[in-house]
Amino acid sequence: MQVRDLTPAEWPWSLLLDADPCRELIDAYLHQSTVMGLMEGDAAIAPEGRSLTIAVIVLLQRDQQVVEVMNIAVAPVHQGKKLGKLLLAAAIERSRQQGTKRMIVGTGNSGIAQLAFYQKMGFRLEAIDRGYFVRTYPEPIFENGIWCRDGQRLAQRAIASCSPKICSGDLHETGAGSPS
Ligand SMILES: CC(C)(COP(=O)(O)OP(=O)(O)OC[C@H]1O[C@@H](n2cnc3c(N)ncnc32)[C@H](O)[C@@H]1OP(=O)(O)O)[C@@H](O)C(=O)NCCC(=O)NCCS
Repeated sequence: MQVRDLTPAEWPWSLLLDADPCRELIDAYLHQSTVMGLMEGDAAIAPEGRSLTIAVIVLLQRDQQVVEVMNIAVAPVHQGKKLGKLLLAAAIERSRQQGTKRMIVGTGNSGIAQLAFYQKMGFRLEAIDRGYFVRTYPEPIFENGIWCRDGQRLAQRAIASCSPKICSGDLHETGAGSPS
């Protein structure tokens, strides 16, 4: 397995739409973002890179200090095998090396698994945007039998050194950055 940047021709739309149901919204951030894929097999020699992408993460640099995870998805058949953790850890490490101080991510009030996942990766709840999904998405979203209405932002305020293979998620707050 290998993590590498994906070209536009390789963007795995079915995965991206698993994390965010609105193609227009994805399109709006994808072109300004870094799209990293977790590739199965030897992606360097495979002619059809897209078909080998088993997980994707999209990072948008908000400013010099802050990067936002705009999208992350693992192919359903591969979920629960720590691949999301591996890919997010790789993204954290890359952002840290680029001098980014803070990583943020938004999710919805109905995303119980996502909330668990991010917290286990060291993120903490930071803000709630009441009605964000109602205002932003053309269709109502239901997940786990819950109407997804409110956005919640989580953040790692101090991006820690985090090996893609071993990531404890045990990050320490330094007070750097402030809730925006
Ligand atoms: C959310 C998602 C990216 C997680 O990836 P994954 O590969 O399935 O998760 P991992 O196997 O790496 O799990 C990492 C940690 O999160 C935990 N976790 C994942 N789902 C969980 C759940 N439903 N409840 C509790 N913990 C959960 C795992 O237990 C693990 O913690 P541990 O290391 O302490 O055991 C993946 O499930 C996914 O693609 N979901 C659909 C798309 C989506 O919703 N994207 C996020 C949009 S905000």
